[in-house]
Amino acid sequence: MKRRDLLLMGLGAGSMAAAIAAGRTLRPARSYNVPPDRTFVASGTQSLGDRARAKGLFYGSEVSIARLRDDTEYASSIAEECTAIVPGYEWKWRFIRPDPQSFDFEKCDDMMDFATQHNLQVRGHTLVWYQSLPDWFEDYVTPANAESVLARHIETVAGRYAGKIYSWDVVNEAIEPYSNRADLFRKEPWLDLLGTDYVELAFRMAHEADPNALLTYNDYRLDFDTSYEDRRREGVMRLLERLTSRNVPIHAVGLQAHLNAHEFETFNPEKLRSFLADIASMGLKIMITEMDVIDQKLPADIATRDRVVASVYEDYLSVVLDEPAVAGVMTWGLSDRYTWLANEKAREDGLAVRPLPLDSEFQRKPAWHAIARAFDNAPPR
Ligand code: G3I
Repeated sequence: MKRRDLLLMGLGAGSMAAAIAAGRTLRPARSYNVPPDRTFVASGTQSLGDRARAKGLFYGSEVSIARLRDDTEYASSIAEECTAIVPGYEWKWRFIRPDPQSFDFEKCDDMMDFATQHNLQVRGHTLVWYQSLPDWFEDYVTPANAESVLARHIETVAGRYAGKIYSWDVVNEAIEPYSNRADLFRKEPWLDLLGTDYVELAFRMAHEADPNALLTYNDYRLDFDTSYEDRRREGVMRLLERLTSRNVPIHAVGLQAHLNAHEFETFNPEKLRSFLADIASMGLKIMITEMDVIDQKLPADIATRDRVVASVYEDYLSVVLDEPAVAGVMTWGLSDRYTWLANEKAREDGLAVRPLPLDSEFQRKPAWHAIARAFDNAPPR
C-alpha cells in the first residue's frame, strides 16, 4: 500500500507499519481530565530557553514590537525565558508596505536590535499569506505583474535581513481541506494570480535573497485525530511532496499548534508521531511555531484550568520532542497579559483567558512547568 494511500486513511507509513508489526490497534484518543495526583513541578529554576538549549533545541515566543518598547516587565521576561522571537504581525505585508513602491522597516529593525542585544534568534513571519494584505494590493497586483511584485517584496524584505534570520515562514496556510481542488490548495489571491506555482516561486525567491535562512512552510490544525485534520495533513504532505520532488529549497515545516484544550480527547499520539516521521522522512526539519493552549471552553476555576492547560502542553510536547527532526518550539506569546486569544477565543463567562506559560503578572504557571519538564525529558539533539 502506497504511502499516499496510508495518508488518505489518515495514517502515515510510520504508524500503520508500526501498528501492523506490533499487532495492536492504535491507542484510543486521550482524555484531558487530569488525574489529581499529577503534579506540574519542574526541577530547578532554569529558564525555558536554557532548558531547550541544553537539548540542542530552541524555545521562543511571538512578540509585539511596540510592547517590547513600552512594557519593561514584558521585555525582560522575553529576554529571560527565550532563545528566539518572532513578530506577531509586523513583518506582514499590511504593516511594512504602506504603498506599492515603499517599505517601512522601522518596527522590525527595532526588533532586530532587541534580538541582537539579547542574543536571540529571529524567525521571520511571513513572506506570503492570504491575510494581512495591504488595502492597495487588490487593485494594484495583477496576473501580469504579480511575479515581479512578489519577487521585489521577498528580495527586499528577506534580503535586508539576510544572514540574521534563523528561519522564514515563506508561505503560511496554503492548504484548505474544504477546497474543491484535488490538491487541497486554498483559494486565495496568490493562487488566483500565479497558480499553484506561487509556493515554489516564493521559496526560490527567498533562498536567493537569504541562502542562510531555514525556509519553512507553516500551517495549522495538523495535530489531532479528526477527519478535518487528516485532510489538512494529507494536503500538507501533497504540497511537501510536490516541492521536494522539484528540488525546491524548502528546509522545514511549521506546525502552529494552536491547541483547543476541550478537543484534546482527539489527541492521538501515534497519529502525530507518524505525521512527524513522514515529514522527517523527506529530509525536512520540524518546528512548533505558534503554540498556545486555548482554555475558552474549560471550567472557570483557575487551578483546574491551569492544570488541564499544563497537561495539554506536556502531553503534546512529550510526543513532538521525541521526533529528532523537531528543532524547537515557539509559543504564540509568553504571558497571558498579551495573547491574541483574549479577543479571538474569549470565554463566555468573561474571565481572562490563560493559554500561555506565564500569567499576566509574568509569574510561572503550571503550563511553564509542563513545558520545562517536556524540554528536560526530551532526547538531546
Ligand atoms: O496594535 C496595532 C496598532 O498599533 C495599529 O495601528 C493597528 C493598525 O491596523 O494594528 C494594530 O495591530 C493589530 C495587531 O494584531 C495587534 O493586536 C492588527 O491590526 C491586527 O491585524 C493584528 O492581528 C494579527 C493577526 O495574525 C493578523 O495579522 C495578530 O496580532 C496575530 O497574533 C495573528 O497571528 C496569526 C499568525 O500570523 C498566523 N497563524 C494564526 C495566528 C493567529 O491568528
